[in-house]
Amino acid sequence: MADRPQSHAVTTLPAWQALRQHREQMNDFNMREAFADDSQRFDRYSLSSCGLLLDYSKNLIGDKTLELLVQLAEQAGLPASIEALFNGEKVNGSEGRAALHTALRSPIGRRLELDGVDLIPQVHQVLHQMTELVSRIHSGLWRGYSEKPITEVVNIGIGGSFLGPQLVSEALRPFTQRGVRCHYLANIDGSEFRDLTARLNPETTLFIVSSKSFGTLETLKNALAARDWYLAMGGPEAQLHKHFIAVTSNEKAAVEFGIKAENIFPMWDWVGGRYSLWSAIGLPIALAIGISNFKELLAGAYAMDQHFTQAPLAQNMPVLMALLGIWYGNFWEAKSQAILPYDHYLRNFTKHLQQLDMESNGKSVRQDGSPVDFSTGPVIWGGVGCNGQHAYHQLLHQGTQLIPADFIVPVNSFSPLADHHQWLFANCLSQSQALMHGKTRAEAEAELRAKGLDEAEVQRLAPHKVIPGNRPSNILVLTRVAPYNLGALVALYEHKVFVQSAIWGTNAFDQWGVELGKELGLGVYQRLTGETDEPASDASTQGLIQHFRERHRG
Ligand code: F6P
Repeated sequence: MADRPQSHAVTTLPAWQALRQHREQMNDFNMREAFADDSQRFDRYSLSSCGLLLDYSKNLIGDKTLELLVQLAEQAGLPASIEALFNGEKVNGSEGRAALHTALRSPIGRRLELDGVDLIPQVHQVLHQMTELVSRIHSGLWRGYSEKPITEVVNIGIGGSFLGPQLVSEALRPFTQRGVRCHYLANIDGSEFRDLTARLNPETTLFIVSSKSFGTLETLKNALAARDWYLAMGGPEAQLHKHFIAVTSNEKAAVEFGIKAENIFPMWDWVGGRYSLWSAIGLPIALAIGISNFKELLAGAYAMDQHFTQAPLAQNMPVLMALLGIWYGNFWEAKSQAILPYDHYLRNFTKHLQQLDMESNGKSVRQDGSPVDFSTGPVIWGGVGCNGQHAYHQLLHQGTQLIPADFIVPVNSFSPLADHHQWLFANCLSQSQALMHGKTRAEAEAELRAKGLDEAEVQRLAPHKVIPGNRPSNILVLTRVAPYNLGALVALYEHKVFVQSAIWGTNAFDQWGVELGKELGLGVYQRLTGETDEPASDASTQGLIQHFRERHRG
């Protein structure tokens, strides 16, 4: 990539070294004191863009920290990497591919050439194809074999062909167009298939086989099972095309599966699976919320792209969030990152980010194949608040690990219920406040004495009541979870992940690590089913195969 100091390990950059020293100086940094000393801390360390407010004031940072982190980004060649990403350079080095998910939300009229071909007309051609399908289904023009309109859409896909569409269609449930319900079938587990199909009528169901490769085991098995189910339920074979469409970059395999060429929506190898919800992989989203809302989603993501490419690094939301992640992961030994949406409709956000972040940044070598000597992507975990407060927040507050948290919360709820939303918002803020503030030994003792406990009891209980505080969190506030804001939010995290990989010098767009398990799966399957008697290469696998064969009744 142009102007990237690839030959330099990031750890040798002067800013990295300076950050190491600065980290030592920050040992005694106390956020509570920093807030007490600086009434402007929120104003200085918060930022609004694309309908999102990012409050990053509750972090273990001062001006010096930010200055050094921005220097790190500059010295690592981040501006050139961003340019390379958007210009279609082969940023996915190991697969020799560009990663142009940003082209999918680019307005018509712009030009973006890849290998001499302008991609934008192709993107808009597919968007047009999607618009037609959505309109035919919503208007009832597309009918099933018995002439009934389609009311159920089942997306058969896994990973990026599932998590992004599921997140968005569920997050935007208040925008659902009447008449079409979307369902997701991802896992190969027969229980998932049975539970779903028990609720479906083949006459009114459309299956979207969604697979960039059209070679993913789980998806192909489920697609075959769906076809068998359709036929077994009385669906005529000659009318299959009214009930099965596909989204894939492997048209040949989809046609071989039996899907009509005109019912296949294209994907491109320059879009990674986990970045693909903006493409025809987003069909279930468009069917759920309508094409205008889908375009609003794209517009929000495009606005974030504009912000990302144009804002100075120090006022750039994805860059700042990425740098904070690097600060904690590489200088404070944080191993995980909590994602805590305070919104029922955003409950799948953490799952989407798990794939986005962990599949992108779970790497141990740099683009040039040399091993890294620092931590890369953290474990992403979390879930919806307030539920988490009554489960795992204990570890955030008093556990031994430093776990930075991102709180995500809308100002307005789509389901006002008495004062519930005020309480939800209050809980979100107070959790972040508690992480920062903590409770000192003196405060804990005073609290216990105020309750009238004797001194021995005060001393016995006080250590358990101490909350260290000084634990970092960001708060991202949306006015409401609407298509535009959500598009911006998802794109924000996409860019955050990219910035980290660009600084580390790793490849955010391949995922070789997932392949070995798939390769070994066939051998295990053949031994489980008795296709081969050859023992497995290790005693554990062989013992478990034996255990299964002796007990399996199915
Ligand atoms: O196995 C991992 C993976 O390749 C993901 O990267 C991808 O999102 C998912 O499988 C599904 O792939 P496909 O869309 O090709 O079925």
